[in-house]
Amino acid sequence: MTLCDMHGTALSTTRAASADAYDQALALFNSFRLDPMAVLGQVLAEDPTFVSGWLMQAGMVLGTYDGLLLGMARESLAAAEDCVGHANARERSLLGALRPWADGDLRRGQALLERHVVDHPRDLFALQLSHLSDLVLGQSEMLRDRIGRALAHWSPADPGYGYVLGMHAFGLEECHEYARAEATGRRAVELNPDDAWAVHAVAHVCEMQGRVADGLEWLTATERDWDGNGLAVHNHWHMALMHLSRGDEPAALALFDAAVTPKAESLAMDLNDASALLWRLMLRGVDVGDRWTQVAALWRAHAAWGALAFSDVHAMLAMVASGDRDAAAEGAAVAAAAARSNETPEWRLVAAPACEALQAFARGRYAECTQRLLPVLAYGRHLGGSHAQRDLLRLTAIEAARRAGDDAIVRALSEQRAVQKAGRPHAARRERHAIA
Ligand SMILES: [Fe+2]
Repeated sequence: MTLCDMHGTALSTTRAASADAYDQALALFNSFRLDPMAVLGQVLAEDPTFVSGWLMQAGMVLGTYDGLLLGMARESLAAAEDCVGHANARERSLLGALRPWADGDLRRGQALLERHVVDHPRDLFALQLSHLSDLVLGQSEMLRDRIGRALAHWSPADPGYGYVLGMHAFGLEECHEYARAEATGRRAVELNPDDAWAVHAVAHVCEMQGRVADGLEWLTATERDWDGNGLAVHNHWHMALMHLSRGDEPAALALFDAAVTPKAESLAMDLNDASALLWRLMLRGVDVGDRWTQVAALWRAHAAWGALAFSDVHAMLAMVASGDRDAAAEGAAVAAAAARSNETPEWRLVAAPACEALQAFARGRYAECTQRLLPVLAYGRHLGGSHAQRDLLRLTAIEAARRAGDDAIVRALSEQRAVQKAGRPHAARRERHAIA
């Protein structure tokens, strides 16, 4: 008789050790703890026809959105396809969704994944993957509503319920429902203190509401539960943003050195945070020394222009800030080509003009930078990521306008930002003054 995972999702295996390993890897993935891949690697060596294990391995790799790892995802999918003969309907459905994603069509993969989690709402692995895809595709409402659809199939008594709540909390936050988001996120953390994603959702609420002291207190109080896991760099990045919001640039720079600075093995998601933090410091006139050199070198090692618009914009920050004009020109050319050939909006409406704008900024052409960024801001969500991450483009436009002497734009964008900060304009205005 075939077995199920701990949430009742059917696995086409009769081997209890494989099902146990699947549960263990899923729990690690749910809380962004390390290292689910090691668990999967071991069980797949012992049980090479464990289809759900291969699919989980492929999905975890795809979920990093790191172009360097696509080959590994394809190998895992090929192994799953080799033993598809005994796969169940759920596994075939998930395989069908992951295949186009691994072949470079994330939107097609996400469309199939959408149907998959409607049919299998207790497939917690697929649900989390689809949530992460909504983030990368900038689908704010679906960050909330895809999880909202699934919640009806989960009970508070279920062991995975808290993780579903944690995802819902982040979706609520990205839809500006801050009170519900915070209550839901805090409940999720009560259920699972190791739920780094729920911790992160509450941090986003504090960030968006300008509640710097609350945010720092929350992240500091929970740090022991997420430091060292897959969200550690990103949650420290959030802490650094809060230091910036209160005008403490030295604390933000110290945090960069202690917890955000990338290493040779860093994934693109961590390089994004490194670029974004150094850029924000640079906008404030902070001397970041030679830190850009290392960040740019690691981006070059990724050599993945064109894989993901969000990452390309963040790689571009490193190229222009480190003075690598050739790499910047190459990245801009790839973005422009993608904008011409790709029907999807992220390249045409955001990444290609943003790459041009960033090059203009680096060359001191601040009025041009502002001019190129203004229309981008209206479509920023297509770039993917969170509101807090995309704020970088608006901050760049504000600083470029300030350097160009365009006070009207500085004021207009600063007021827009203040209003968006959830009705707490004073906090945002304080930050604007700090920047100025
Ligand atoms: Fe975040």
